[in-house]
Amino acid sequence: MAAVLTSMRALFAPAPAFVIDHETPADVVSREALLDRAMGKDRRKKSSEKIRRGRIPAQGLAFVARDRAGHVIGTVRLWNVEAGVSREGKPVEALLLGPLAVDSAHEGKGIGGALMRAALTEAKTRGHGAVLLVGDAAYYERFGFFADKTQHLVMPGPFARDRFLALELVSGWLEGAAGMVVASGSKLSQPAASRRAA
Ligand SMILES: CC(C)(COP(=O)(O)OP(=O)(O)OC[C@H]1O[C@@H](n2cnc3c(N)ncnc32)[C@H](O)[C@@H]1OP(=O)(O)O)[C@@H](O)C(=O)NCCC(=O)NCCS
Repeated sequence: MAAVLTSMRALFAPAPAFVIDHETPADVVSREALLDRAMGKDRRKKSSEKIRRGRIPAQGLAFVARDRAGHVIGTVRLWNVEAGVSREGKPVEALLLGPLAVDSAHEGKGIGGALMRAALTEAKTRGHGAVLLVGDAAYYERFGFFADKTQHLVMPGPFARDRFLALELVSGWLEGAAGMVVASGSKLSQPAASRRAA
């Protein structure tokens, strides 16, 4: 009887206010409009944008939040980068996170947090070692991002050091990493076949 009641309750429970989903090509227009509203048109001048320009996000690591009608109300993407070089002189593979944005009409409902957790969980599952970002430490510290992990790294353009943060998904991944963060993801113009071969 209890099991029947539980499944009846599940049947009539209201749909969640939002869901986290993988981004699809059909989301691009509404996603860009959301970013313009949330961050202004100047968002394209940021140092992080230099790394993202002309590249595609890391495989499986572009997420949107949708409302009950399926509209995009939040977005986050991660990008393949090299975070300088290791002590042995080898490129340190990592991810750059951003932009993260939530529609202002839906702020404070946990959507930003849900997007961050989905993105970080998937990045870890896929075997990535570290995630970098430029953003408000007061917001990102709750997810484990701190500036001490990036002290020997620089972005390719102006950035505030106290906003340049990183999270290690694999302990010690960024130890010794030094130098400039550069894009290493597939280029937008590359046909899928050559992207796979690269
Ligand atoms: C930052 C942002 C993604 C948060 O999304 P959200 O869905 O409102 O976030 P959540 O509901 O998961 O978390 C809300 C909490 O984060 C806090 N928060 C939001 N922005 C913050 C900031 N810049 N600094 C510190 N705390 C912040 C809120 O005060 C709230 O705190 P509480 O849980 O103690 O009440 C959203 O406000 C946004 O898109 N802002 C504009 C774009 C932007 O600045 N993006 C990059 C962030 S540096």
